[in-house]
Parts: sequence; structure tokens; C-alpha cells
Amino acid sequence: MAISGETRKRHREPAVAGGVRTRTPSWAYRLFSQPVLRAVLGWDFSARDVRWVRPGPRLVAEIGAGGGFYSRQLRERLGPGARLVVVDPFPPAVARLCARLGQGPSGVVADGLCLPFASGSLEALFYGYSLEEFADPFAGLREAARVLRPGGQLVMFLWRPMLRGRRRALLELLDANFVVDRVSTGPQNIRLACHRREAPG
Ligand SMILES: C[S@@+](CC[C@H](N)C(=O)[O-])C[C@H]1O[C@@H](n2cnc3c(N)ncnc32)[C@H](O)[C@@H]1O
Repeated sequence: MAISGETRKRHREPAVAGGVRTRTPSWAYRLFSQPVLRAVLGWDFSARDVRWVRPGPRLVAEIGAGGGFYSRQLRERLGPGARLVVVDPFPPAVARLCARLGQGPSGVVADGLCLPFASGSLEALFYGYSLEEFADPFAGLREAARVLRPGGQLVMFLWRPMLRGRRRALLELLDANFVVDRVSTGPQNIRLACHRREAPG
């Protein structure tokens, strides 16, 4: 039976597109990456916000890159010699993003719950308002801990209304696997920069 948008909203059922379950219908994601909307809603400015990520030549993945609000600035922030991989589960989003970015970052179609990276292989991970969109953000965070090398950096921006009722548990899981180096909390969002513990819990 088809589920109407209203019914899904009432029961908080995840949307399903391309075999991946998300909390928001995938058509809305492009809209969320519009710079003017982001400045108004979340006080998000990509050039400023990517300074949460340490620069340097490393292997870095942006998970849930979607409309690419942060991708270009992130690549510039990392600088020459770094390799940025942009990841999103929706093939059209990855294709559009790669076309926009031109040569440089590689685009990978993948679910953040099952990343195509070996354990401990990445030096930094960036989630710009994407983890809270996963059907299971807790499993997403465990997957982040798996693919990051010890000491590797995790930068996450989270949209507070989407965390309702789950924030404390998510931060506890974060604490088990990461050391929080910097945090800022606004009315709508939380920004965190962490590094992976040597021996995650
Ligand atoms: C609110 S948008 C943010 C997009 C972009 N990072 C930005 O800041 O504009 C959420 C993104 O998370 C992605 N996403 C949702 N579920 C995902 C999953 N299971 N794995 C990876 N990305 C996912 C969506 O496709 C979408 O691009």
C-alpha cells in the first residue's frame, strides 16, 4: 500500500528512495543545499563552516554530500594533495555534484550505513546535516568509527529538530568512540569536531 506524505510524517516512517531509507524525501535535499535558504535557516556559510575541518593533504570523505553546499569549499580548505571523496546514496545527486565540481573529488554512490572504505582507512570524515537523516544515525556513527583511523577527525553538523528524543543517546555513543575537541550549539544546529579514540568503545 502506498504511504501518503501525511501518514509518513505522523508515524515518522523513513522515506525510501533508491533502496535507501532516509527521514526526508530525497527530492527535498536539493532545496536544502540552496545557500540563501541555509543562511536564513541555519546561519550556515560554507566558506566559514569548513574551517571546522583541519586542512592538509589527507584522504577525506564527505558523507551525505547531496546538493554540495559544502563540497567545493571543503576541497579548497583541504588544499592540494588531499583527496576528497563525496558520498551520497542517490546517484543523480552524486552525478550532479561531480559535474559541478569538475576534476578533483571522486564521487561514490553509497549508503552511510555501509561505507565502501576499509576499516581505519580515512583520515577525516565530514557530515553536513546528513547523519540525522539516516534511517539509523546510531549505526551511521558506528560506521564512522569503523572507517576512521585512530586520531582521525570527525566533523559533524546536526540539525537539532531532527534529533528530537535521540540527542542524548547519540552524544553518548559519540563519546564512547570519539573525543570532542570543539562544539557549538545554536538554536537550530549543533556543530562538533572530534577525533577518534585509540580504542573505541
Ligand atoms: C539535508 S541534506 C544535506 C546535504 C549537504 N550535506 C548540505 O549540507 O547541503 C542530507 C543529505 O544526507 C544524505 N543522506 C540521507 N541518508 C543517507 C544515508 N543513509 N547515507 C548517506 N547519505 C545520506 C541525503 O541524500 C542528503 O544529500
